[in-house]
Amino acid sequence: MKHPISRAIRTQIDRTGEMEHSQPMFLTSSFCFHDAEEMRAAFADETDDNIYSRFSNPNVQEFVDRMCALEGTEAGFATASGMSAIFASFMALLKQGDHLLSCRSIFGSTHTVITKILPKYGIEHSYVDAVDWGRWEAAIRPNTKMIYLETPTNPALEVIDLSVVRALADKYKLILNIDNCFATPVIQQPAQFGADLVIHSATKWLDGQGRVLGGVVLGRRELIKEVYQFCRSTGPSLSPFNAWVLSKSLETLEVRMDRHASNALYLAQQLENHPKLAWVKYPYLPSHPHHDIAKKQMKNGGGIVCFELKGGIDAGRQFLNSLKMLSLSANLGDTRSIASHPASTTHGKLTEEERMAVGISAGLIRISVGLEYRDDILGDILQALG
Ligand SMILES: Cc1ncc(COP(=O)(O)O)c(C=O)c1O
Repeated sequence: MKHPISRAIRTQIDRTGEMEHSQPMFLTSSFCFHDAEEMRAAFADETDDNIYSRFSNPNVQEFVDRMCALEGTEAGFATASGMSAIFASFMALLKQGDHLLSCRSIFGSTHTVITKILPKYGIEHSYVDAVDWGRWEAAIRPNTKMIYLETPTNPALEVIDLSVVRALADKYKLILNIDNCFATPVIQQPAQFGADLVIHSATKWLDGQGRVLGGVVLGRRELIKEVYQFCRSTGPSLSPFNAWVLSKSLETLEVRMDRHASNALYLAQQLENHPKLAWVKYPYLPSHPHHDIAKKQMKNGGGIVCFELKGGIDAGRQFLNSLKMLSLSANLGDTRSIASHPASTTHGKLTEEERMAVGISAGLIRISVGLEYRDDILGDILQALG
């Protein structure tokens, strides 16, 4: 079985004596040993036996193994949320005096970790704009250890050329750490472009049904070993129940993402010349400024569409209030379409200048395109635009 999708679907915990077809749940905090010698060997890392679910659990390992098949990575560690995956990757691999180079346009909580938490441990950072390549190299310092970025970015949907960043990381021997949450591995596989670490908030498209929180760090075995050592002792482990849910979700990831993306492309095409919109952004629209990069590294444009309402903040609020079917929610990556207006919600406390620095204009609307019939999604947006 060669294809990663087949391998991911068929990677499964060994059957128990009941011969179940679907995988059982191992809702247990600890595991038993037959004798003292077996227990000693497990604690001495001489065997892979499970000891305690903070360290490892069969359901969690199955989820990780499936993600490794999809991303083409050697190893991984699953965490309780996307943020704990991101935090663990920083804390396990950076130390006092190191410098982190990050794309400016990143998820809000990641920005908080980089600017408020890492400095407490003496870890410095610099931000660079997504596609301002000249500045990326100029921002590298002698103590730079890691490059961190999301592509496509949230919510501005900029697409960063992974081959270009890899060349930079190679030149300066830096760890390349990519948040692949927006694309998912069935659309883009950063490790195939040389990323050392690939991170996911499994809460989004991987679950795809808005049920559980989860995260995962995947990548080169020696780096994951460090992440494992950090997490084993500090405890941000994924629950076996959530791992079971997420692992089952991976079986349908490709078909779901194909439909999310075809619905999103249709929506973007239909909205592109709407008189009430200043612009529409979707990586697979030829008008997207990074369309060529998207075509090179993404199988399709993903499930997020953004547009700018001409009337700014007030138009954004009015648009949300006029929607009849789309959900008003902070999440994304669900079967049900979701609309959000960052300027009046998640980024409402920022000044206009601060918002613009991360690509959030006053009338920006982000649509997480769901699996409802495409004309129902479009129809709700058109009626809300008035
Ligand atoms: C790109 C990206 N990375 C990370 C996260 C954090 O994930 P979680 O909410 O699972 O901690 C999010 C959440 O929205 C996200 O959009």
